[in-house]
Amino acid sequence: MKQLRRIACLIFGLTLCSALGVFPASAQLNVLETSASVAAAEKSRPAAPTSPQLAEKHLNERVESLLKQMTLEEKIGQLAQYSAGSPTGPGTGRDDYGEMVAKGQVGSLLNVVGAKRTNQFQHLAVEKTRLHIPLLFGMDVIHGNRTIFPVPLGLAASFDPALVEATAQMAAAESRADGIQWVFSPMVDIARDGRWGRTIESAGEDPYLGSAMARAYVHGYQGTDLKNPQSVAACVKHFAAYGAPIAGRDYYAVDMSELRLRQFYLPTYHAAIDAGAATVMSSFNSINGVPASANPFLLVQVLRHEWGFDGMVVSDWGSVGELINHHVVSNGPDAAGKALTAGVDMDMESDLYRTRLMALVQRGDLPESVVDEAVRRVLRVKFALGLFDHPYATEGPVYQPTTEKRALARKAAEETFVLLKNDPAPGVGRALPLKPSKTIALIGPFADSKSEMLGSWTANGNPDDVVTLKAALQARLAETNGKLIYAKGTDILTDASSGFEEAVNAAKQADAVVVTLGESGSWMTGEAASRAHLDLPGNQEQLLEAVAATGKPLVLVLFDGHPLALPWAAEHVPAILEAWYPGIEAGPALADILLGTTSPSGKLVVEFPRSVGQEPLSYSQFPTGRPTGDLDLSHPPTNNPEKFRSRYIDESNSAQWPFGWGLSYTQFAYSVPTISATQISAESAMANHGTPQLKVGVDVKNIGAVASSEVVQLYVRTMVASVEQPERELKGFERITLAPGEQKHLEFPLGFEELSFYNARLERVLEPTTVQVWVGGSSEATQSAQFEITK
Ligand code: NOJ
Repeated sequence: MKQLRRIACLIFGLTLCSALGVFPASAQLNVLETSASVAAAEKSRPAAPTSPQLAEKHLNERVESLLKQMTLEEKIGQLAQYSAGSPTGPGTGRDDYGEMVAKGQVGSLLNVVGAKRTNQFQHLAVEKTRLHIPLLFGMDVIHGNRTIFPVPLGLAASFDPALVEATAQMAAAESRADGIQWVFSPMVDIARDGRWGRTIESAGEDPYLGSAMARAYVHGYQGTDLKNPQSVAACVKHFAAYGAPIAGRDYYAVDMSELRLRQFYLPTYHAAIDAGAATVMSSFNSINGVPASANPFLLVQVLRHEWGFDGMVVSDWGSVGELINHHVVSNGPDAAGKALTAGVDMDMESDLYRTRLMALVQRGDLPESVVDEAVRRVLRVKFALGLFDHPYATEGPVYQPTTEKRALARKAAEETFVLLKNDPAPGVGRALPLKPSKTIALIGPFADSKSEMLGSWTANGNPDDVVTLKAALQARLAETNGKLIYAKGTDILTDASSGFEEAVNAAKQADAVVVTLGESGSWMTGEAASRAHLDLPGNQEQLLEAVAATGKPLVLVLFDGHPLALPWAAEHVPAILEAWYPGIEAGPALADILLGTTSPSGKLVVEFPRSVGQEPLSYSQFPTGRPTGDLDLSHPPTNNPEKFRSRYIDESNSAQWPFGWGLSYTQFAYSVPTISATQISAESAMANHGTPQLKVGVDVKNIGAVASSEVVQLYVRTMVASVEQPERELKGFERITLAPGEQKHLEFPLGFEELSFYNARLERVLEPTTVQVWVGGSSEATQSAQFEITK
């Protein structure tokens, strides 16, 4: 308990704790001194709060006046959250939420959907409780609420933040209409290990792209005023580094240096906080031995002190209770006290705050002021959302996937598809696009499945709204005298091959074959869905090989949320299109791409490995003292000095398809980049943080025959640094559309933000060196130039 009170003091700082006589200042500092960066952090503490909407003076006056009237029991009630709908975690099996709400024991409910249902609970909260404090309704609205868009990994592959913002905006309006004012999104965890099931919910492996996506989601959800009935509060999750569990196993420990944490894993959360996110969710994992849901380094030092976050922190589902499973406490009261004092304001589903905090305060083991501070943060969000003035949702018309909604879903899907490969196939030039006047065989378990187009976390989406690829292709081919022959062939996970014959016969009768294969979106991807194998489940690959044996021009369309390792397909299938899970407009969007109405333009945001043993895999590789050579490893390299290299003896180091990769139906020519200054000064760049110091210019030309979009990417390498730096890092991108023959000039600014790195003392610095830049259509871009950073 002593430890608990010490951590509590971190929240209030030295003055209050000394005043309380809890312990001397030197002892408090020991708790904070988890890293060498403390001093730097305190120095860089932002002057202004991150969310101006929560800092409004009038709002805070209302919070203080309400807080003064609250009993301890009423305060604790505000800190408890329960799932009163379909559970999204291990259930607590209660059914008395109505009574608890009426007694003021609940601050928030999750998984309650619809104006009618949320209003029922809201009436109890507002009319039955002494102080009429409204409930806050939360939900996992991850890639749409009713209108389901592509999964986040796919949305990120669009490299189109404006598109992502538009999808989030639509999701916010639909959520609010459903009585939900708080969405548990964006998930901004960096995902570099393809085995991790939740890669699908992320924006992939890169902090620069991930930060752009994080900002887009927050702006889309929250808009400029949380009170707007079209806006919801965002929840940035899972804080922190949840995407880097050892061996890619969900919920498992994270072990990484603070340098790597700050360099790669924290920037996306920080970007979301800076964009004004009102809430944060603490993660399940431990990090360097300390569970994130009781981690003052993350929740106090980094989040509140360094970043100035003034919103509310909710635990992940049951993660307060799971402190006992982590063996950092042995009982419920300690778990509740430790989490609250570490900065977790609201307890999702553990039922420990409601049942244990009161006794802790009464025994004097927990200052009531710690409870007060958490309650303030919860109330602030409720006031900012306007819940005290408008607690009820308006019951409106039944949801319809209107033309406008479908248009956005279709645009989003089209931008997310990544053409991994498009080689010539027998008799047809390149395998894609398909000719609409021909006979096409459509095979595989995804071609006619509505539910499998939605992926994981489908919120309140309805599979009936999905247009499948089969339906869309049938309609399109009918217009052009083409013909579709469909055969499912196999299921997603089975050994039964009774459907193979029909599939092979369909292929034999066709001019071209499209095979749709992958993982089940609903249970093979997402939470608790890590995989040790990254292959096609069941006998899908056997089906693919059987169909390929017909020799017909073959296109493989993949539906997955892990980056799959498919060496056979990579070698033998002429065209492969990565579709992720495209949402309700899956079929029409895919038909547009397959038939060439639209050129593919998505780019990979995770590397696709050659073998699962390469994971975790990132384009952002470090240098090594023994760089890979080109030794032929097909013979034992006995006595060959070249064998002492950083590589596998049975696999190359490189990805099958790298970060940023994605083909189109045209070609783009890139000029050699120009740089507006041959040198910049480190000192002046550091003194002018936000100001670009130079610009990298490039001309991009569509030299093919069709119009297409392209994601122009800028990569940077610091050639010499006191701490070794990645061989390439994304530091700029822009999605452009060019007609055949059209050329565009683009400029990418570079300054302290893009060029600085953490040194061994965890200070963000620029050091004198040469910087190399590359511009192109993937992380393998070859057009490059250099400039110098002087002192
Ligand atoms: C657990 C998941 O980790 C989190 O992402 C989600 O928001 C909560 N459950 C609530 O469903």
